[in-house]
Amino acid sequence: MNSNPIGVFDSGVGGLSVLRHIREELPAEHLLYVADSAYAPYGVKTPREIRARTLKLAEFLVNQGAKALVIACNTATAAAAEMLRGKFALPIIAMEPAVKPAVAATRSGVVGVLATSGTLKSAQFAALLEHYGQGVRVTTQSGHGLVECVERGMMDTSATRDLLWGYVQPLLAEGADTLVLGCTHYPFLKPLIEEMTDGRVAIIDTGAAVARQVRRRLVESGLQRINQEELGDVAFWSSGEIGQAREIMSMLWGMPTVVEALPPAYQ
Ligand code: SIN
Repeated sequence: MNSNPIGVFDSGVGGLSVLRHIREELPAEHLLYVADSAYAPYGVKTPREIRARTLKLAEFLVNQGAKALVIACNTATAAAAEMLRGKFALPIIAMEPAVKPAVAATRSGVVGVLATSGTLKSAQFAALLEHYGQGVRVTTQSGHGLVECVERGMMDTSATRDLLWGYVQPLLAEGADTLVLGCTHYPFLKPLIEEMTDGRVAIIDTGAAVARQVRRRLVESGLQRINQEELGDVAFWSSGEIGQAREIMSMLWGMPTVVEALPPAYQ
């Protein structure tokens, strides 16, 4: 079991921003990644639709031998983490918008959160605000359309800039000095946000913290790979158009990447 892979999935290519942190934190682990790009964005889907998709992806990864699952998608976490934890007896690590560190970091007392409407409307997000948001103002923007920009590899087009500025500008106008990226697609837009905000805001995402949590859970469960000297393999699947998936995922992963089509039973 220890040499089995860790299964990671997302509504699309955004979870690669989490996968790269897992790769850095746990280089010896074998990794499997599924991009559910045919169904992206999850942010506009109902919780029931998201649960149905995530169940298929989790079944696929478990059938590939996954010893742990990472839900590298905030929207899927909010809709489906509890359901998946009830169904699979293996460590399931999920996302959480970084409200807690943002509240600790803000000096202006205003924290901006950019996430999908699915995440912002979720009970998980309300509970986070209730727990950690006291004493500061948390202002939110739902980044409608941004997931699609990243899915198409449009990280720095004028259309992406205009759309993004429409979300970032109101957060700045409200006085936010700390910005939480509450969707795993958005770290790919971080260079653009940094440029737009001229370094005036601290930008926080949860990828590194999630990777550390994956390590902790593997250690606790005695599931870490025994041979820590060898680099683990990484395998990729997508439910989307495979030529486009290969192109965009290679670009985001930073090297030519073989992406297989997700088998029809899981489409
Ligand atoms: C989406 O698919 O709409 C967003 C994924 C996320 O919330 O991380």
